Amino acid sequence: MQLKITVLEGDGIGPEVTRQAVGVLRAVAGIYGHRFEFAERLIGGAAIRQHDSPLPTVTLDACLASDAVLLGAVGAPEFDALPAHQRPEAGLLLLRQALGDYANLRPAVAYDVISAASPLRPEIAQGADILIVRELLGGLYFGEPRGVTSDNGHSVAVNTMRYSVPQVERVARVAFAAASKRRRKVTSVDKANVLETSQLWRQTVSRVARDYPEVTLDHLYVDACAMHLITNPRRFDVILTENLFGDILSDEAAVITGSLGMLASASIGGDVGLFEPVHGSAPDIAGRGTANPFGAIASAALLLRYSGGLEQEAETVEEAIRSVLNAGYRTPDINAGSGGFLASTAEIGKLVAEAVAEVADTRHAYHAV
Ligand code: IPM
Ligand code: MG
Repeated sequence: MQLKITVLEGDGIGPEVTRQAVGVLRAVAGIYGHRFEFAERLIGGAAIRQHDSPLPTVTLDACLASDAVLLGAVGAPEFDALPAHQRPEAGLLLLRQALGDYANLRPAVAYDVISAASPLRPEIAQGADILIVRELLGGLYFGEPRGVTSDNGHSVAVNTMRYSVPQVERVARVAFAAASKRRRKVTSVDKANVLETSQLWRQTVSRVARDYPEVTLDHLYVDACAMHLITNPRRFDVILTENLFGDILSDEAAVITGSLGMLASASIGGDVGLFEPVHGSAPDIAGRGTANPFGAIASAALLLRYSGGLEQEAETVEEAIRSVLNAGYRTPDINAGSGGFLASTAEIGKLVAEAVAEVADTRHAYHAV
């Protein structure tokens, strides 16, 4: 298998965690005999500094011409005062839109060995295994009109939450298809007691559900969902929700895992998939070698699964992550009370890459029997 992968390290801890993910992909390529070509481009604050744009044309063209995009994180405090469309984050939003990736998959899994890192009691978090399917190209993030105007001498800011039936349908199908391969339950999250967009969302999701009779559908208001997520996370299999709700709920779901640094994501639906950890650029810890690369590495596993169709390789990376966690290696964010030992970002990356070789060997031996 040959894959052209555009690597966008981005800002803050983006470069250090992405390098570990690339290292793991190289290990996978070597072991399984694939050819992965990596091309680095700039995005976010790094791109603004060099090209005066958060998504330069050279970056976008490279992404559009590749099989998959692996991204670190965007965002830097020096640009905080800029209007939304000039900020580093605008680069990411434009990229998602240009790639047409309307479905954002964010798995949140509780790993037993680091359960002490979660503020949730182990008996609540343990066994939780949730897939959040976040609509990625609609809602308040992209709705028009938007902007700042003035009214009677006061500034007024406007954003628009807008959804069409086809927009809801296509992401709902991704959620139902995913659920049918898991525990066959979709919880659709909205605010249908207040918002018209949510009423349309609920009707549309209910209609799509009829095509998936093997999957159970329930609906929750977003405020209630926020509560259930941390009081009873095991009640969820797949959560399907609109853009902003999904943004908020996925950070909350990270608490189940113990750290935002653990969460991976896959943005799919367009021609080129985009894979990035859920965490941000964390400028406060950038460059210290303490950032958690597990989310970035797990995103590389999703790249193998969704852009490469390499299920075995994806599972190998996921198993390698587990084995490094089981062996006790931790970054500071997941070390609380877990009885492990601290390792740097690069050490973790190297350990996972080595574990990939071991896991692949074991799996191979097992299949050969
Ligand atoms: C995320 C991030 C982004 C988002 C930001 C960086 C634009 O928070 O991927 O969850 O809001 O989608
Ligand atoms: Mg977010």
